[in-house]
Amino acid sequence: MKLLILAALFGLSLAQFNANTRNGRTAIVHLFEWRWADIAAECERYLGPDGFGGVQISPPSESIVVTNPWHPWWQRYHPIGYNLCSRSGNENELRDMITRCNNVGVNIYVDAIINHMCGAGGGAGTHSSCGSYFDANKKDFPTVPYSNLDFNDGKCNTGSGNIENYQDINQKDYVSGKVASFMNKLIDMGVAGFIVDACKHMWPGDLSAVYGRLNNLNTKWFPSGARPFIFQEVIDLGGEPITSGEYTGIGRVTEFKYGAKLGNVIRKWNGEKLSFVKNWGEGWGFMSSDKALVFVDNHDNQRGHGAGGASIVTFWDARLYKMAVAFMLAHPYGFTRVMSSYRWDRNIVNGQDQNYWQNMVAFRNVVNGKAFSNWWDNGSNQISFSREYPNEKLKARRKKHEGERSEKKKI
Ligand SMILES: *[C@@H]1O[C@H](CO)[C@@H](O)[C@H](O)[C@H]1NC(C)=O
Repeated sequence: MKLLILAALFGLSLAQFNANTRNGRTAIVHLFEWRWADIAAECERYLGPDGFGGVQISPPSESIVVTNPWHPWWQRYHPIGYNLCSRSGNENELRDMITRCNNVGVNIYVDAIINHMCGAGGGAGTHSSCGSYFDANKKDFPTVPYSNLDFNDGKCNTGSGNIENYQDINQKDYVSGKVASFMNKLIDMGVAGFIVDACKHMWPGDLSAVYGRLNNLNTKWFPSGARPFIFQEVIDLGGEPITSGEYTGIGRVTEFKYGAKLGNVIRKWNGEKLSFVKNWGEGWGFMSSDKALVFVDNHDNQRGHGAGGASIVTFWDARLYKMAVAFMLAHPYGFTRVMSSYRWDRNIVNGQDQNYWQNMVAFRNVVNGKAFSNWWDNGSNQISFSREYPNEKLKARRKKHEGERSEKKKI
């Protein structure tokens, strides 16, 4: 009996590491703050034909509306309920986008903000991006509904500085039911998985309970029994009390060390050299490759928020950025995500464009599963390596060659 339960749990958690990408696709793109209608068009015009496996979208859930500063990007990380309207579009536009992207083989992954509701700034009489009434000061979110009973004591120091969900066991069950039904609605609409925001502030056991309540993916596009892909945002650069290892049992985890250390290498800081990346990956203290979601920069650390520090390479250093992203896509470690964001001195979409990476994404798809091989470096900042193509012929030829040599020796 125990064995059976263990097997069931093991099977469940294994499934959550699979990105469910179709046709051997290996990279996804974060279309940060893009509108649903624009993402749908992008899937059809470029992402499908170019071999992108999926899109990470900005949070679709209703949030606080901030006017000072004027509609900052982070307002969408302050949800007030689970209705689906945001600056990116309404529920119909979201559904249309998910359908059209799925129809061209591009998965949608949702940024799910389930740890907390909005913090300060939404007193009585405030309305959300969907027009729903809420009062954050009273912890009153009638559209879910959540009340002050559903939150950790406001007096305690919550990790995020926000109002965090979950209080006692009974409330936990209520909250995790609400969260699961929000995620299940999206699964039924056709999404392939979730990036779960701020996991550090949630117990792995609580998260696991939510994941266990999720539906299988929509069989209109995915094989029957397919489980949602889960990748969890856990910021762990080493020396943290909460480690990414506590979460790798229940889903993939963002490997923040990847971008921070690659930034040091590419910038030649701290005496780092490109030749040192010969053992890039687990050899650098990263989590195991099949647990990692990797990226050069993310929406937080590209603008100096969250973790990462000064070394993170972004489009501001165009040449270094191209080197870093090309290296990431060429190297076998981790499941890769590229970024399409906007300049944050002016809130306009700029030329930082995922189409730029299409050739490297195609390369990654072709060499998927092929060994990292033929390493060469000049002891400094010049390196080369290959991803070996199916090399049965090569092996056969080597064997024959070795055979001939030993024959010669005998003579
Ligand atoms: C290695 O290659 C880099 C880049 O071409 C060059 O600047 C450097 O001088 C070379 N170092 C050695 C030791 O050959």
